[in-house]
Amino acid sequence: MNMLKHDLAYLPEDASRDAIIEIINAEAFGPGRHVRAAARIREQGPHDRSLSFVCDDRGETIASVRMTPVQAGGVRGHLLGPLAVRSSHKNRGIGRELVRIAIEAARRKGSEAVILVGDPPYYGPLGFEKVAFKALEFPGPVDPARVLVAPFTPDVHERLKGVIAWRE
Ligand SMILES: CC(C)(COP(=O)(O)OP(=O)(O)OC[C@H]1O[C@@H](n2cnc3c(N)ncnc32)[C@H](O)[C@@H]1OP(=O)(O)O)[C@@H](O)C(=O)NCCC(=O)NCCS
Repeated sequence: MNMLKHDLAYLPEDASRDAIIEIINAEAFGPGRHVRAAARIREQGPHDRSLSFVCDDRGETIASVRMTPVQAGGVRGHLLGPLAVRSSHKNRGIGRELVRIAIEAARRKGSEAVILVGDPPYYGPLGFEKVAFKALEFPGPVDPARVLVAPFTPDVHERLKGVIAWRE
């Protein structure tokens, strides 16, 4: 397929992208996506569009990452996800770049940490570490080995203890 790096644009999300993002997430995660523990947190309140980004290829949206403000025990942070890249555009570094951009935006906004439920081998090189086993209580079943955090200060790990929920 003819896809060049300079055809790609990383842009903040806006409401005009909602329909295509829904399609991209449905394609990536399938019908079970709404019952996942992270999705239940996202149902508690809106995501933060100013920290959520899309990737366009020549004007067509082909990937998305969303960020939702959360209180996680004693930490005011952001939950990253869903992250999804269309099959046609996988393995070109787009997912990685979206994660980098979202983390940097959250840090600039004063977030204390970015938290997610995902594969450690993918997110480890992007700055994510395992959260202490079962330290965070999700509103649904979650694999504790997949709960990860990119902390912005050294004391985040010890304060990540308790319920994780949407916050204002
Ligand atoms: C996972 C996903 C977001 C990655 O996006 P992407 O743009 O294809 O990924 P990148 O190009 O940034 O990175 C690709 C690399 O990550 C690796 N990778 C992809 N998924 C991985 C996983 N689950 N675990 C470990 N490595 C993974 C690829 O093998 C590739 O490795 P390489 O660079 O050595 O070739 C995308 O494949 C996707 O939308 N998948 C379906 C939805 C999903 O699983 N989302 C993640 C939620 S946890």
